[in-house]
Amino acid sequence: MEEETNLTSKFITAITVILCVALLLFLIRKIIQGPFYKKANRIDGKVVIITGCNTGIGKQTALELAKRGGKIYMACRDPIKCEDARLEIIEKTKNENIFNRTLDLNSLKSVRTFANNFLNEESKLDILINNAGVMATPKTLTKDGFELQFGVNHLGHFLLTNLLLDTLKKSAPSRIVIVSSAIYLFGSINKADLNSEKNYSKVGAYAQSKLANLLFTKELAKRLEGTNITVNCCHPGIVRTELGRHIVAGNFKKYVTDPLSSYFFKTAEAGAQPSIKLALDEDLKQSGGYYFDQFRMPVLSKAKDMEMAKWLWERSEELVGLKSKSVKESVTAMDVSDVDGMTVVELEVTKEEMLPKIVEKIEDVEKSSDMEKKDEEKK
Ligand SMILES: *[C@@H]1O[C@H](CO)[C@@H](O)[C@H](O)[C@H]1NC(C)=O
Ligand SMILES: *[C@@H]1O[C@H](CO)[C@@H](O)[C@H](O)[C@H]1NC(C)=O
Ligand SMILES: *[C@@H]1O[C@H](CO)[C@@H](O)[C@H](O)[C@H]1NC(C)=O
Repeated sequence: MEEETNLTSKFITAITVILCVALLLFLIRKIIQGPFYKKANRIDGKVVIITGCNTGIGKQTALELAKRGGKIYMACRDPIKCEDARLEIIEKTKNENIFNRTLDLNSLKSVRTFANNFLNEESKLDILINNAGVMATPKTLTKDGFELQFGVNHLGHFLLTNLLLDTLKKSAPSRIVIVSSAIYLFGSINKADLNSEKNYSKVGAYAQSKLANLLFTKELAKRLEGTNITVNCCHPGIVRTELGRHIVAGNFKKYVTDPLSSYFFKTAEAGAQPSIKLALDEDLKQSGGYYFDQFRMPVLSKAKDMEMAKWLWERSEELVGLKSKSVKESVTAMDVSDVDGMTVVELEVTKEEMLPKIVEKIEDVEKSSDMEKKDEEKK
């Protein structure tokens, strides 16, 4: 009899322990996922661009904004994956105003083409979400020769935003959302070697690019004061997405990191919540903030160093060829040395860079015609 009670009480204790552990795990999971954006406001007819949104948090952001009536331009590198995601979003939301567009942030030319095409088909832009990113890639260069992570995460988006800025201004109140990362904590802007030519570390270059996102947010917010465009950035959290594809692979990924990460990492839907809040929350009037979950967070002083932010802005303008404000596009110019033959060359340079080149060409032409004259005189 006593033995039986003993067993029963052991059984009850075991069940209680199991239930408590399950509850604890459930609560921890809840905390990991973080709070969701709860307001029900709609954005019917508002024009939205989201970069890199065929998968992960970009796709979840697109889905949520589509549910709320947005007219969404999905700016993706891979047209096939983009189309798959587009059809899925249309099916789930019954919103037909979702478009596939090609944008390869790896190429400044692609950024310009995308922006041009967009500006030709739309006269307004209410929400721009710079979401695309690459993480901890092996050392690679973009088409324009920039270190890949700095080139895609920062420079490509820097150019894109600048090309769309006039339209965002016309559409004010409008918003810019920049997806950064808390990895910035470990980053520094290497002024002498932005491109990591001398010294490449996968994570170092990633952290630099994410710090650059924060500094870009700060400087842009300053430049946009009084325009009714808000620009804010966020840390999505540690999200289970394809971003980690360059870090682990194989069986270790399948049996160890995948199961662990499904518990300890946020879902893409949870990771999209900060972007969704920054894109939608009408009570958010401030600019230049850094958000995690639904809250504005303080940042380290290196992420609000306005001198560095200004330096990075100006350097970025040079690198993407935006230095001269009046010349937005690559300039088509006559090659002065060959006017008769009408050789037209495309010079991807700004006015300031072009002028000395033209002067040089004219001098060349003058020199050679001088020489021709002298030759004729000799004859
Ligand atoms: C992009 O969307 C259009 C419809 O808007 C569709 O006709 C086209 O096939 C799609 N592009 C790709 C690459 O699937
Ligand atoms: C190379 O990178 C490491 C870590 O990112 C840094 O400590 C070191 O100073 C760098 N060296 C040079 C020459 O930039
Ligand atoms: C910004 O918005 C406020 C309130 O909607 C408006 O009064 C103000 O004129 C706007 N400013 C600009 C520069 O558009």
